[in-house]
Amino acid sequence: MKQEIKPATGRLGVLVVGVGGAVATTMITGTLASRKGLAKPIGSISQLATMRMENNEEKLIKDVVPLTDLKDIVFGGWDIFPDNAYEAAMYAEVLKEKDLNGVKEELEAIKPMPAAFDHNWAKRLNGTHIKKAATRWEMVKQLRQDIRDFKVANKCDRVAVLWAASTEIYIPLSDEHKSLAALEKAMKDNNTTVISPSMCYAYAAIAEGAPFIMGAPNLCVDTPAMWEFSKKMNVPISGKDFKSGQTLMKTVLAPMFKTRMLGVSGWFSTNILGNRDGEVLDDPDNFKTKEVSKLSVIDTIFEPEKYPDLYGDVYHKVRINYYPPRKDNKEAWDNIDIFGWMGYPMEIKVNFLCRDSILAAPIALDLVLFSDLALRAGMCGIQTWLSFFCKSPMHDFEHQPEHDLFTQWRMVKQTLRNMIGEKEPDYLA
Ligand SMILES: NC(=O)c1ccc[n+]([C@@H]2O[C@H](COP(=O)([O-])OP(=O)(O)OC[C@H]3O[C@@H](n4cnc5c(N)ncnc54)[C@H](O)[C@@H]3O)[C@@H](O)[C@H]2O)c1
Repeated sequence: MKQEIKPATGRLGVLVVGVGGAVATTMITGTLASRKGLAKPIGSISQLATMRMENNEEKLIKDVVPLTDLKDIVFGGWDIFPDNAYEAAMYAEVLKEKDLNGVKEELEAIKPMPAAFDHNWAKRLNGTHIKKAATRWEMVKQLRQDIRDFKVANKCDRVAVLWAASTEIYIPLSDEHKSLAALEKAMKDNNTTVISPSMCYAYAAIAEGAPFIMGAPNLCVDTPAMWEFSKKMNVPISGKDFKSGQTLMKTVLAPMFKTRMLGVSGWFSTNILGNRDGEVLDDPDNFKTKEVSKLSVIDTIFEPEKYPDLYGDVYHKVRINYYPPRKDNKEAWDNIDIFGWMGYPMEIKVNFLCRDSILAAPIALDLVLFSDLALRAGMCGIQTWLSFFCKSPMHDFEHQPEHDLFTQWRMVKQTLRNMIGEKEPDYLA
């Protein structure tokens, strides 16, 4: 049945946590350059992808559903460093100066608000541009005020909040995360060991009616308390961890092995990375959060309980090594030991020399635009259809995550079709 979707009128404020980071500045620069006609939004599903309609016509997704136009976006955000987006992008060294200069004035105008930060959650970072808050609850209040002020100052109709900040240390789900009442109590009690800064941003966004997107593997909105809150406030949430490089390859290759009923005995993945993200992940507590996110993929795709002969004993290892000379240009190696007919072994080697933020930027933009669409379509809670963009798709306790990229892609199209009341085309006709 067709859903009522409010039109994308007025301006959309996009508040990025970690607005001075590599992913954030790359996403912002590319968006500003695209709307000026200086660049093409390569890699963006919302801007370039088409889908087949019931009558077999191929249409651009942005012509199928009412997405916010890039020219109606206003960027802002928070960072622990005070540099404006131009200075931060120069520091990140992802994009060339000539590409930044095309939108220099717009980038210079983006000045981060002081961050909600706690050194214990990212020990490799020492920022100076930080809020003073006596409790986590006070942190939330200040962030809510920031969102309101930004909305008024920039005459925004709506706001979306995107976490593109550093990965926080790993914490397991605890009782304080299991209900909204318990979460709010822990914030008021200033329980800083279970309430992370990212949870404060998420709570503030949801409380202000803004969709929240978690681009890192942080626990944050992946808790019953936040599911409850987002449903109560009718706000969509999504995450977690942008699916940009190595995991993207994994979620394409693994379904191929399974579809062909080929066995896998081992999968060794290693990376070298030299940007600030790599530096933060060099701390074992922060790496643990990323490791859990990266490891979850294979088991759910292979379903070893259903296919013990093929996937009952897969040795899976993931490594990330901080190696400064490479900066944002990550190099990833995968060695995959597979076996075929009568158990004969074979090996596959993948060497992906990728640009981390170049891959993550369009994902971040698409997550923002689709989350804003979901809000206007009255969808709230976890947006499972956005799993396509996430390394570690969020899911509640009753559902399994979907990791297969092609199934995830079908979920995107099916959701968009449902929104406008279209049926799937008959591919055999
Ligand atoms: N680049 C990718 O391909 C990719 C893929 C998946 C996930 N991610 C995740 O996205 C995030 C951003 O990656 P990046 O390469 O841009 O990292 P980055 O280190 O360049 O940027 C992170 C920014 O966040 C800021 N920051 C840290 N804590 C903050 C806080 N509490 N409040 C406000 N700002 C804060 C830092 O100062 C920095 O400017 C990381 O968590 C990373 O793991 C990146």
